[in-house]
Amino acid sequence: RVEVVINGSSSPAVVDRSNESIKHNIQPASAKWKHNQTLSLRIRKQILKFLDAEKDISVLKGTLKPGDIIHYIFDRDSTMNVSQNLYELLPRTSPLKNKHFRTCAIVGNSGVLLNSGCGQEIDTHSFVIRCNLAPVQEYARDVGLKTDLVTMNPSVIQRAFEDLVNATWREKLLQRLHSLNGSILWIPAFTARGGKERVEWVNELILKHRVNVRTAYPSLRLLHAVRGYWLTNRVHIKRPTTGLLMYTLATRFCNQIYLYGFWPFPLDQNQNPVKYHYYDSLKYGYTSQASPHTMPLEFKALKSLHEQGALKLTVGQCD
Ligand code: CTP
Repeated sequence: RVEVVINGSSSPAVVDRSNESIKHNIQPASAKWKHNQTLSLRIRKQILKFLDAEKDISVLKGTLKPGDIIHYIFDRDSTMNVSQNLYELLPRTSPLKNKHFRTCAIVGNSGVLLNSGCGQEIDTHSFVIRCNLAPVQEYARDVGLKTDLVTMNPSVIQRAFEDLVNATWREKLLQRLHSLNGSILWIPAFTARGGKERVEWVNELILKHRVNVRTAYPSLRLLHAVRGYWLTNRVHIKRPTTGLLMYTLATRFCNQIYLYGFWPFPLDQNQNPVKYHYYDSLKYGYTSQASPHTMPLEFKALKSLHEQGALKLTVGQCD
């Protein structure tokens, strides 16, 4: 077992929301941090018992055909048919087949990135993962530009692209997709029935405009497998966030993993306000009972791994 629970406590962490940022003090980027190769390899091996990122990163063409029926992961009673478009966009082989990178950056979407000056550092990593089509151009100084894989929950189409209500929004999304320029676009298409139409719209746009992206659609077992791994390590998450999913996958093909933009707290370490996302006005939602995520708990686990040298968390300015 990899010890990821802070202080070795076996009970789920109790979240005191009054002043969390103080408890999560992380050393500045310049402070000493040493990669723990042995631990990283041990974690990779353990995660491999639950899932294999090379396979689970995407369903492959050979395993489905148009018309096949899929039950949504979180709405088991609802189903979808594999459309011709979806089938066409399924990769033939894993986009991560035989991939190994020296260093990877996973860029979360917290406002803690603003004024971090981390853009240059992020762009030096061999493989850069971003979440939910977060914009980069206007924030390049703080978040960088390099994108090798970007996720896109279907809800992004609603939140950031007004459900493509008119030509202007369709064009905006199209431009964003074109800017990906050959990167992997990772779309969780089978998670919840609410995403059905949005996934179809995006698929259609990609095919119609011959957008240069490599689409990937995570396997049906990935979410449960990731949750299973963390539960086994006493991290009692409800539903893993995109960021945690990406870290869990990255352990398979990245030697060293660097996290930026992971900070699910409204105040920074100096008690200054932090936006929930660096690019929009979304408010902190994880405090609501309805929210499926347990971000502060995930953060604790990641912080513990940071302290053990299995990953590096940067939550302040880069050098
Ligand atoms: N994140 C964080 N602190 C924040 C915002 C985000 O640590 N204040 C991390 C989380 O790991 C999150 C990732 O950055 O998964 C990407 O952010 P976001 O797009 O908000 O992802 P999710 O909340 O997972 O997406 P969704 O709301 O669609 O489930």
